[in-house]
Amino acid sequence: MRLTDSYGRVATDLRVSLTDRCNLRCTYCMPAQGLDWLPTERILTDDEVLRLVTLAVTRLGVTEIRLTGGEPTLRPSLVHLVERMAALSPRPEISLTTNGLRLSDLAPRLAAVGLDRVNVSLDTLRADRFARITRRDRIEDVLAGMAAAVDAGLTPVKVNAVLVRGLNDDEAAPLLRFCLEHGYELRFIEQMPLDAQHGWRRAEMVTAAEIMELLRAEFSLEPARAQARGSAPAELFMVDGGPGTVGVIGSVSAPFCAACDRVRLTADGQVRNCLFAREESDLRGPMRAGADDDDLAVLWARAVEGKRAGHGIDTPGFRQPDRPMSAIGG
Ligand code: GTP
Ligand code: 5AD
Ligand code: SF4
Repeated sequence: MRLTDSYGRVATDLRVSLTDRCNLRCTYCMPAQGLDWLPTERILTDDEVLRLVTLAVTRLGVTEIRLTGGEPTLRPSLVHLVERMAALSPRPEISLTTNGLRLSDLAPRLAAVGLDRVNVSLDTLRADRFARITRRDRIEDVLAGMAAAVDAGLTPVKVNAVLVRGLNDDEAAPLLRFCLEHGYELRFIEQMPLDAQHGWRRAEMVTAAEIMELLRAEFSLEPARAQARGSAPAELFMVDGGPGTVGVIGSVSAPFCAACDRVRLTADGQVRNCLFAREESDLRGPMRAGADDDDLAVLWARAVEGKRAGHGIDTPGFRQPDRPMSAIGG
């Protein structure tokens, strides 16, 4: 069985949120006091996560697993989970999206048990701004974590940066210079209406087009892919003739729904077809009520079958989903 939707798209990239908690408080994501975290009993246990991931990989055609949060390194069993996922046959590609705070310690251990690569969030190179954006004075931990990831061979290390108007939108070029120097693959992400505070405004978003303009003031950029980007969210550009590249993820202004190959599993066991979807399909309830693997496979396949063509992200009719990004998974 494959996870095919009614438009013929096949989901092969499973993004698994391991927790909705985070040790940063990025202003574009959540309020200073944090959120009402999911109660422990609603969060999938390690065995439940592994059961669903195993089902996805061995019976539903999933080939890539991305572990996300909240902040996935806050899950105490992360190393164990990666080890178990890497032992599956066929072996999926396993990657992690993290804020990097705990990577210095974890990168060697994760690499040793089979993690393939990491994507780390970094919006600024300035300690004072990092503290303003994330509300924690921890930039040094992130920088050390990124270096540790390279040392551990978790490469390519990709860096995700969100530009916020008036806050760090003068750092597009410095961020790129820094990443080129260190061999990190930088991608800029348009800020999405997925914040817990529902404070996002289209007019305030630094658009992909603006990001290109900011970068072109200092670098020459040529499309780096021979073909269209396919299911990759980033448009990729060769910088100053290469080999360095930069990606721009126009999640809002240039959604990639037509080629989407993603499906998400939230920390509380809900299948979600898109960050911007409003619908979720429960797997935790049936699983805890005794559903067998055949039942769960059918439920999962049915959930993906109902995936909508798109979610109207850049249209006036768009309504922000109830759950914020930190609870859906990045
Ligand atoms: P790789 O390129 O394979 O490393 O994966 P990735 O780009 O999906 O990795 P990551 O988890 O770091 O995601 C980067 C950003 O892409 C996210 O923070 C989102 O902004 C955006 N993104 C990821 N998934 C989706 C999606 O389903 N829809 C949209 N619109 N944007 C997404
Ligand atoms: N819009 C765009 N990107 C976001 N991220 C978190 N919230 C948003 C948002 N509302 C980014 C994080 C991280 C990545 C997983 O998603 O900064 O880099
Ligand atoms: Fe945490 Fe990521 Fe949200 Fe920042 S954007 S608070 S790192 S979940």
